[in-house]
Amino acid sequence: MSARLNNKVAIVTGAAQGIGQAIATRLAGEGAAVCAVDLHLDSLSQTLSSIEAFGGRAIARACNVTDSAEVKALFAAVTEELGAPAILVNNAGIGTAPNDGFDLYQQRMAERGAQMQRGEKPTVYADHIPDMEDEGWLSVVNVNLNGTFYCCREAIRSMIGSGMQGSIINISSTSAVSGEGGVHYCASKAAVLGLTKSLAMEVAARNIRVNAICPGPTNTPIMANISDEWKQAMVAAIPLGRIGEPVEIANTALFLASEESSSFTGQTLMANLGTYLS
Ligand SMILES: NC(=O)c1ccc[n+]([C@@H]2O[C@H](COP(=O)([O-])OP(=O)(O)OC[C@H]3O[C@@H](n4cnc5c(N)ncnc54)[C@H](O)[C@@H]3O)[C@@H](O)[C@H]2O)c1
Repeated sequence: MSARLNNKVAIVTGAAQGIGQAIATRLAGEGAAVCAVDLHLDSLSQTLSSIEAFGGRAIARACNVTDSAEVKALFAAVTEELGAPAILVNNAGIGTAPNDGFDLYQQRMAERGAQMQRGEKPTVYADHIPDMEDEGWLSVVNVNLNGTFYCCREAIRSMIGSGMQGSIINISSTSAVSGEGGVHYCASKAAVLGLTKSLAMEVAARNIRVNAICPGPTNTPIMANISDEWKQAMVAAIPLGRIGEPVEIANTALFLASEESSSFTGQTLMANLGTYLS
């Protein structure tokens, strides 16, 4: 096993599937002792077994990142069991939530698309925000932004306490800069970029680095919420001509976690197949 992250402890949130699972596996493959975190402990068994299959070291912990007390307890437990974390990957995120009007938005977009394909002047409009209830807005902001903040705060407290130099990696989205997506998703992911830059400046003198990754469309279960028509239109518009794979985001996270990225802080890496050029 190569060992770019030997003797490092890493926490990866949202690690039960998709991009988070790929990141946890990749970091463990480079020698990190990984705590894979998700809402439910049993959902993490596949991640753990894939790491154990190559002799990697990992534990699993249930934690809802929107609950700051749970996040605090998570960091205490990881420090006790594996040691103080030097790497945090804030990957847990959601694109839609109950009562956010996304289902109606999708229906209307499909109807509008069909009208345009028939050569008609479209009379149906997207109108997403009028159907977005407070609950839908707050749920998405709570996971994507507040969850990232709670985990960053605990990681910084831990790194200061242990004198550990570290790397924090926040998974944002190309939607943060392109504006393609629901207002709750785009706003929360854009806020993550602001948090990343501000925190990077704040902790740079302690040699703690904070960076963000903006994936483009990536082949994970989050894609199940998107209609086939939408997916086809998406692929047609991707310069590299395909949807990305989770391991490609994991490779980017590995770079930011390792010393190879020692001059990077406050940066956003656009791992998006050319879908948006910043
Ligand atoms: N897949 C894409 O196309 C894409 C594109 C851009 C950005 N992203 C971002 O990448 C990240 C991972 O996306 P994915 O496609 O792998 O998603 P996914 O839905 O497949 O996995 C997300 C994981 O996060 C967990 N999670 C959700 N809420 C949580 C909470 N409150 N506490 C702890 N865990 C929680 C889920 O249980 C799930 O296992 C997300 O932040 C997403 O916004 C994904």
